[in-house]
Amino acid sequence: MKKKTAYAVAVVGATGAVGKEMISILEERRFPVDTLQLFASSRSAGTNVSFNGQSMTVMALEENSFAGVDIALFSAGASVSREYASSAVNAGAVVIDNSSAFRMDPDIPLVVPEVNPGHLSRHHGIIANPNCSTIQMVCVLKPLHDVARIKRVVVTTFQSVSGTGSDAMAELLEQCKHLLAFQEVKPIVYPHQIAFNVIPHIEDFLPDGYSKEEMKLVNETKKIMGDDSIRIAATAARVPVYVGHAESVNVETDLKMTPEVVRSTLSEFPGIQVFDDPQRKVYPMPLHVAGTDNVFVGRIREDPSIENGFHLWVVADNLRKGAALNAVQIAEKLIDIPES
Ligand code: A2P
Repeated sequence: MKKKTAYAVAVVGATGAVGKEMISILEERRFPVDTLQLFASSRSAGTNVSFNGQSMTVMALEENSFAGVDIALFSAGASVSREYASSAVNAGAVVIDNSSAFRMDPDIPLVVPEVNPGHLSRHHGIIANPNCSTIQMVCVLKPLHDVARIKRVVVTTFQSVSGTGSDAMAELLEQCKHLLAFQEVKPIVYPHQIAFNVIPHIEDFLPDGYSKEEMKLVNETKKIMGDDSIRIAATAARVPVYVGHAESVNVETDLKMTPEVVRSTLSEFPGIQVFDDPQRKVYPMPLHVAGTDNVFVGRIREDPSIENGFHLWVVADNLRKGAALNAVQIAEKLIDIPES
């Protein structure tokens, strides 16, 4: 990408749960923004959003929205990305896409900057941002894999409603209000009531019984880690939490790693914070992690049922490290790559 002192940036999906975070993270991290253009559907055209103390007007996304744009951050769902990413690339922008549209395309890098920054240089205009659950898991698996090769991972996720988007956050709030007033609720976004419930169903099920979300964890992890030999099995569940995904991760390695070695290895990795003192009630929880940038790890303990294995409890803000922050970090790395 051509080096500039500041870049023309566009955010597609600017009114959504992740899009709003993208705008505030660009501001917080002082990304060198020359101009910022905000796009959403025609429903929210004319809405005002604040950026660096200025009120910006959201515009309806169109084919010709990307003239002069250097970096386009997309978070408006896979169908919008499929329809508009090529227009952005043809107009000369690099697209950083938060949807699932291109993640498994072998020609499109899928990047977590702490884990596989080298893949960025292979891009042809589109860089995919991984699924929120995958990002927090690979941040933890990567440093461990570098010490003792990971043979197998069994993960169960506890995913907050913000991962579905702003409609789902509103649905949880509405259902809580109705139930506390002893009124009936009618699920719309989810197949069942989400308030005071846990739903072991995220995205459609495949014929083998796994959900698409579960297979994202399997396939994206292998692609990012660049290692197809890691065996992974996942269960993804939706929980009535607003922000913050938690994961119970069981890891089997080919060499022994004691909990102390796991703890010190993780502590040294950028973006990871070990928060692990259960006797003092110290372990990461979505309630405390929401609004922060690190991936938090606790409950580190040996798995006595296998020779070389351990359990981890991994929590991160799914809107920030799981989506918007990772996308902005990709943009930061991108503008740092020397021009070829
Ligand atoms: P809008 O607010 O106008 O519907 P979330 O994931 O929180 O549901 O947010 C989705 C984001 O994607 C919103 O900003 C939404 O805009 C935007 N979006 C949805 N459909 C389109 C579309 N066809 N074109 C552009 N933006 C879209």
